[in-house]
Amino acid sequence: MEHHDKILILDFGSQYTQLIARRVRELGVYSEIKPFSLSLDEIRKNNPKGIILSGGPSSVYAADAPLPVPGILDLEIPILGICYGLQVIAHALGGEVTRAPQREYGRAELTVKNASPLFSGLGDSLSVWMSHGDHLTRIPPQFEVIAHTANAPIAAIQHRHRPVYGIQFHPEVVHTPRGAEILGNFVFKSCGCRGDWNASAFVASTINEIKNKLGSQRALCALSGGVDSTVAAALVGRAIGRQLVCVFVDTGLLRENEAEEVCSFYERSDFEFRFVDASQRFLSQLQGVTDPEKKRKIIGHEFIRIFEEQARQIGEVSYLVQGTLYPDVIESVSTKGPSATIKSHHNVGGLPSHMKLQLLEPLRELFKDEVRRAGRELLVPAFILNRHPFPGPGLAVRVLGEITPERLAILRPADRIFLEELRASGQYDLIWQAFAVLLPVQTVGVMGDERTYENVIALRAVTSLDGMTADWAEIPHDLLARISNRIINEVKGVNRVVYDISSKPPSTIEWE
Ligand code: XMP
Repeated sequence: MEHHDKILILDFGSQYTQLIARRVRELGVYSEIKPFSLSLDEIRKNNPKGIILSGGPSSVYAADAPLPVPGILDLEIPILGICYGLQVIAHALGGEVTRAPQREYGRAELTVKNASPLFSGLGDSLSVWMSHGDHLTRIPPQFEVIAHTANAPIAAIQHRHRPVYGIQFHPEVVHTPRGAEILGNFVFKSCGCRGDWNASAFVASTINEIKNKLGSQRALCALSGGVDSTVAAALVGRAIGRQLVCVFVDTGLLRENEAEEVCSFYERSDFEFRFVDASQRFLSQLQGVTDPEKKRKIIGHEFIRIFEEQARQIGEVSYLVQGTLYPDVIESVSTKGPSATIKSHHNVGGLPSHMKLQLLEPLRELFKDEVRRAGRELLVPAFILNRHPFPGPGLAVRVLGEITPERLAILRPADRIFLEELRASGQYDLIWQAFAVLLPVQTVGVMGDERTYENVIALRAVTSLDGMTADWAEIPHDLLARISNRIINEVKGVNRVVYDISSKPPSTIEWE
C-alpha cells in the first residue's frame, strides 16, 4: 500500500503486540507488525519513521531468547522498547538485566524524574501497568533513567543524544490510562509522524493502487453477505468497476430473507453482480447427511464446483478477491499458536490451483473495526457492517442432524424472532454472535387441552473478542421470556425453547 508514515512493531512474542499496533493506528499513524528477526535490509525497505520493540515472555539470557538483528540500534531510526523490548535494548548496549526478586504484575505509580519527550505534558506521576519477571539493574552507558516506580528503580530510560527509549511498563493496555499519550509522544514528537492515517485515506490510496495493479485485468470475488467480503468487493469495485465480477451463492442454508436483503444492496453496486440460486443442489447433496464434518465437506465441494462453473462462463479472469484481515496474516511469534489450527477448518475449501488466480486481498492490513470504518466510507449499509459473524456452512450446522426443507422452515422464523428482539432491545450490538439452533429431539408439551410432541429450539448468544474463546451472554430474563413466548406462539412445530449457558471452551460457539 502506498503509505503515509509508518511505524514498525517488531514482535518478540507479547500477548499485547496487536494492541500496540492498534493504539498507534488509533493515533492516526499506520503501523505494521513484523517478526523480531526482520533483517536490516527489510527494515530499511519498510522506511519506518520509528520502530517499537514489543514485550515478550522470554528472558534475554535464555539460550533461545529472541534478539533483534545486530545494528538495529545504529539505524538512526527512533526506537521505543516496551518491557522485554527495553531489556533487549539494555542488554545489547551494555546494561544489565536480572531476574526480579518477584514477578511484578499490576498497577504501579510511575514517578517521572528527568524531562523526556516521551512524558511531555504528562506531569510527574502516572498510573502504569507492569507485567515482567526480569528487570533492569544497570543502564547502558550513554543512557539516563527518566522514571521509576516503588519496585523498579529503573522503569524508563532514554539515550542522552539519540531518540532511543525503553519503558518497563505497558502503555498499550487500558490499565495505563495515559498510555496513548506516551505512544503519541513517541510517534509524533520523536518520530515526526503526521497522524494522517484514517479510513478515507486508506480507501483513497487503496483504490489507486488497485487501479494501477490491475489495469484492464478482471477480478472475481465470492461474496458471503458478511462484512469482510462485502467491504473487499466494494473497494475493488470502486477501483475497477465492472471488471470485477462478484458471485453470491444461495446455498439454501441462509437465514430468513437474507438472500433478498443482500442482493438488493449488491445489485446497486459498482461491480457486475451474479446471483446463483443453488439451494436445490445443496439440499439434495445434503439429504440424509447427519455428520457435521461431512456436511461441511459437501458444502465446501459444492461451493467450489459452482464457483468453477461461474468462472468458466465469465471467461478470462486474473485475480481472486478475498476479504482476508490483518489478524489472519500477522507473521508473528505470538500468533503461531493453536489459533492457526482452530481457524483452518473454518475456511470453505480453497480454490483448485488449476484456476491459476492470483490473490487480491485489499484488507489484509486492517483490523475488523478498521474494515467497518472503511465500509462506512464506501457506503456499505449498517445492516451488513454491524452483522454478527455467520459460518460458511450456514444453517446446515444449526439444524442438528438431518437437514430438510421442513426443518429449515422451523429454524428460520425462530432465528429471525430471536434477532429481531435482540435488535429492538439494544442487545444485538453487545453480543458477538446470536442464533437459534433446531435440536434433533422432540419433547412433550401441552397447548390448550392438547398434548403436543414437538421440536426444541436452543438459543445461543455469546460475547467474545475473536471467537476463539467465548462466554454465554447474560441476556435479561424478561427479554428471554418474550423471545421464548414469541417463538412458541409464532413458529409452528416448536413447543420448547432453551437457553445455552455454556462457555467456550469447553463448548464451541456452534452446536455442530
Ligand atoms: P466454533 O463453533 O468453532 O466457532 O466455536 C467459532 C467461530 O467460527 C464460526 N464457524 C465457522 N465459520 N465455517 C465458517 O466459515 C465453518 O465451518 C464454521 N464453524 C464455525 C462460528 O460461527 C464462530 O463465529
